[in-house]
Amino acid sequence: MSDDSKRDGSNVIVRPARSVRGVVRIPGDKSISHRYAMLAAIAEGASRFHNFSAARDCASTLECVAKLGCEWERVEGEERTLEVHGAGRRLTAPTEVLDCGNSGSTMRMLSGILAGQPFASELCGDESLSRRPMGRIMTPLAQMGARIEAVEGGRPPLKIRGGPLKAIHYKPEVASAQVKSCVLFAGLFAEGETVVEEPIRTRDHGEIALRAFGAEVERTGGASRIVGGQRLRGIEAHVPGDLSGAAFFLCAAALFPGSQITLPGILMNPTRARLLDILMQMGLRVSVAHLEEHHGELAGTIEARGAVWKGTAIAGADTAALIDEIPVLAAVAPYSEGGLEVRDGKELRVKESDRIAAVAKNLRKMGAEIEERPDGMRIPGGQHLRGAELDSFGDHRIAMAFAVAALRAEGETVIHGADAAGVSYPNFFDELQDTTHG
Ligand code: S3P
Repeated sequence: MSDDSKRDGSNVIVRPARSVRGVVRIPGDKSISHRYAMLAAIAEGASRFHNFSAARDCASTLECVAKLGCEWERVEGEERTLEVHGAGRRLTAPTEVLDCGNSGSTMRMLSGILAGQPFASELCGDESLSRRPMGRIMTPLAQMGARIEAVEGGRPPLKIRGGPLKAIHYKPEVASAQVKSCVLFAGLFAEGETVVEEPIRTRDHGEIALRAFGAEVERTGGASRIVGGQRLRGIEAHVPGDLSGAAFFLCAAALFPGSQITLPGILMNPTRARLLDILMQMGLRVSVAHLEEHHGELAGTIEARGAVWKGTAIAGADTAALIDEIPVLAAVAPYSEGGLEVRDGKELRVKESDRIAAVAKNLRKMGAEIEERPDGMRIPGGQHLRGAELDSFGDHRIAMAFAVAALRAEGETVIHGADAAGVSYPNFFDELQDTTHG
């Protein structure tokens, strides 16, 4: 995006660039911020979070916990600092429906906590969230003893009647960190030891956050275990920068040999950092310095330089580990030497949009060749793209992915519905503009 890029309402025009340079301060990680807000709500005492995510999704979580009797406020003069006054294990029955907005994380993980509360609650979401599958959390929560109803096909809104729960040993069919966190959060309120045995290892922010708040959580083999009845206590913590937000700037740098970006304080949790291996395999030069630990989460400063941009294939456990970064990897894949193949990505079809269809539609509009498959895609490399009128499909990651792809296209690109980016990254377009040079 060049300096003369324009914005009109929710449309953004992105013009081609020649290089990406600068320092970008990526907002706090969304996955960790959700979990910190939820656990702080049921902790005893106050919590203070620095660099708390600015994402609209995390604001949805905060609004929901407020309706459940948990008070919080932003600290004056420190825009990204949040203070949460824990309500303890027992929340207050909400007098309104809990609106989760666009946030699957809010709905799925908060349901785990609500299942253990002695009252009924209802959770709704926007049009996109209302299409997303909730059966994956309804099944384990019902087994634990909660009564939970959805509309046909297990879609929101959800009605939960919480109460005393019993521990379960649950083996989810889908690899989902949201499901794992949901069941472990419910496990806090259950009698006995709750176990979640994962088919594929997923991000472990739930386990790490529970430990940070003082709970004992064990991890053995592929299983995470928690004994019910434990009390949490408030913490003061720093949220590392979101690696999934950083991915857009890393892919932008990868497009132009000679680009150089610095991203301080980015999350380096090993269950998320597979992205860096894949980007390095594809030719991006990456180094990480100033590693630090914040309450069990690693963070470091990423320095990345664009060189060649090669192709790769992503499948199996890598697809699960990179599920949020696949849209941007796919959007820039036509410019790579060897292209990209994504397999085992059926889950991409049930994210904020059908991300396989959205990527295919937008790439085709830019003149690219792409083979769309039920559980993935194959995108040949060595292609030249042209600017086009694209749609975000109401999906933050699609809006941002195609702003990056547009940087190397011929001519300008219009992204309709670009304000979707605020769901995870409100200042994204300004920051992209500040770092791209024509
Ligand atoms: C998330 C897990 C992933 C991811 C989502 C955030 C989390 O979803 O796509 O953006 O914070 O646990 P699934 O659990 O559905 O895989």
